Amino acid sequence: MTVTQQSMKPILILGGTGKTGRRIAEQLVARDLPVRIGSRGSTPSFDWENRATWAGALEGVGAVYVSYYPDLAAPGAAEAVGAFAKLAVAMGGNRLVLLSGRGEPEAQRAEETVKQSGAEWTILRCSWFMQNFSESFMLDAVLAGEVALPVGAVREPFVDADDIADAAVAAFTDNRHIGQFYELTGPRFITFAEAVADIAEVAGREIRFVELTTAQFAARLAEQQLPQDLIDLLMMLFTEVLDGRNEHLTDGVERALGRPARDFRDYASAVAATGIWGGAK
Ligand SMILES: NC(=O)c1ccc[n+]([C@@H]2O[C@H](COP(=O)([O-])OP(=O)(O)OC[C@H]3O[C@@H](n4cnc5c(N)ncnc54)[C@H](OP(=O)(O)O)[C@@H]3O)[C@@H](O)[C@H]2O)c1
Repeated sequence: MTVTQQSMKPILILGGTGKTGRRIAEQLVARDLPVRIGSRGSTPSFDWENRATWAGALEGVGAVYVSYYPDLAAPGAAEAVGAFAKLAVAMGGNRLVLLSGRGEPEAQRAEETVKQSGAEWTILRCSWFMQNFSESFMLDAVLAGEVALPVGAVREPFVDADDIADAAVAAFTDNRHIGQFYELTGPRFITFAEAVADIAEVAGREIRFVELTTAQFAARLAEQQLPQDLIDLLMMLFTEVLDGRNEHLTDGVERALGRPARDFRDYASAVAATGIWGGAK
């Protein structure tokens, strides 16, 4: 019997309507485990930018999936996650599963704050999600038929959000994952151009990949009149973190789940079959 089943206290899923959180919440509910969604739109509301909301979301919970927003690489993320983890432990939510990113100093500092919080922790340090092409900021570009980014030959071992969710659910339901660090990647790395070509092929549509210079990318972001901190974050992610430092595969999915990670092709075929990318099904 796990900690969660013993106590039957809710598991708080931060970002519980987002790419990984939604999947985790669905799986836990299917197992009849009590779940509370933590996001600005949930009741009670949880907002990373308003610390007055944190205690209300944590009231009575036994465990938390910690997904920071907008990005664990953003300045101040580690301090916020550390403060949240301390409060969670003080309020009795002492089982924490952190969603982290690779090759990002601020994210690695956030991991340390969770390890030092006194919680029973599991760290899921993940590569880029495949679902960024279908449930996030790259979907519009795919639908418009042109994905334009300042990344060329760099390869990324995209990971499936379903694999991340499976690992998080395992962490909440099996005590052998306490104190474990899992680096989760897909089974191979591909360039963004190859990812877009795969999507175009399975969707049966023409979708171009265009490599931008850093200056062109900055100009495009400025044209979209995005907030400056979001522009800074995107510039950092695309021009600093995507420099090849993460071009290595890991066995994290195998270690956490005892099965291979899902391949980009399988992800793309399944999404194409839903029709959300348009084109021939
Ligand atoms: N995307 C990737 O490829 C990737 C890779 C590795 C690691 N990560 C990490 O994963 C984390 C989540 O990123 P994501 O891209 O997957 O986002 P996401 O979970 O899809 O983000 C959406 C979720 O966050 C909630 N949210 C938005 N603003 C919030 C706020 N101010 N306070 C609380 N909740 C808020 C949304 O609900 P409401 O709108 O209701 O608030 C929604 O539930 C980040 O820390 C990132 O560093 C991402």
